Amino acid sequence: MTTKQEENILKPSDNLVTLTQPDSVASEAFRILRTNISLKDFDSKIKVINVISSTAKESKSTTVLNLGYVFSQLGKKVLVMDLDLRLPSIHKKLKMKNQNGITDVISKSIDFNEAVIHYTKNMDIILSGTRNPYASELIQSRAFAKVLEALRNAYDMIVIDCPPVGLVTDGVITSTLCDGTIICVASGMNDKKDLERTKDLIDQFNVNVLGIVMTRMPVGKRYYSKYGYKKYGYGYGYGYGYYGESENKKKKKEKKTKK
Ligand SMILES: Nc1ncnc2c1ncn2[C@@H]1O[C@H](COP(=O)(O)OP(=O)(O)OP(=O)(O)O)[C@@H](O)[C@H]1O
Ligand SMILES: [Mg+2]
Repeated sequence: MTTKQEENILKPSDNLVTLTQPDSVASEAFRILRTNISLKDFDSKIKVINVISSTAKESKSTTVLNLGYVFSQLGKKVLVMDLDLRLPSIHKKLKMKNQNGITDVISKSIDFNEAVIHYTKNMDIILSGTRNPYASELIQSRAFAKVLEALRNAYDMIVIDCPPVGLVTDGVITSTLCDGTIICVASGMNDKKDLERTKDLIDQFNVNVLGIVMTRMPVGKRYYSKYGYKKYGYGYGYGYGYYGESENKKKKKEKKTKK
């Protein structure tokens, strides 16, 4: 039997929770994130945002999809772009074939409209496309900057998914073409050195950091939902989160049982 509380819990399969469970605590957290970005944007200049993290699996792609969707709910025409060209995942999360995408737009000079997928009424997706061994070169090319400029004119908001900056610098390079950057930091997944390296890169590339989204954070405080106040074991800073254990805790437990 599902309790009311369980109905509000984000499960690993809920990649677009803001669409599938709009009343959940997780969805509310994404709406708060949207509000915080909008509050900072006094002159309505923030149009192109990218999402980075220090290490892998810090919830970037999930954040990109849900942030894109909540902005589209304001009536904005939104494009979500998968620019994690080495390990793309948006197509997997949305159960799509990764055919024509941004790499094809750049390398085959096709019109971006041929690669754009209309996912919901106001949200379009552009996948990473055909695997290209020259990912960094592609992102740094004039051709990419030109396409991004054309997309900027076609959309009200573009949210770009990037690889972890601790592995490749594609993400911070992309930041230089964006109006602002969001950093996902998963609780217990980084060590101080990872974060210091990210900070150095951010300073070096003069990145405009819009904010940090804490993910997988132990919350231990009460949230208000339409079902009343509840206490959640894990969540995000302002964030969505899964009810249950963090990856690190799970791994530790697995190790213990193996012993
Ligand atoms: N807040 C969260 N708590 C627990 N698990 C999460 C959370 N957000 C996402 N996940 C799960 O963790 C995995 C990684 O999430 P996601 O793909 O969004 O991260 P990522 O930073 O884009 O990873 P990568 O670096 O591989 O691109 C996915 O299986 C996702 O369902
Ligand atoms: Mg990802």
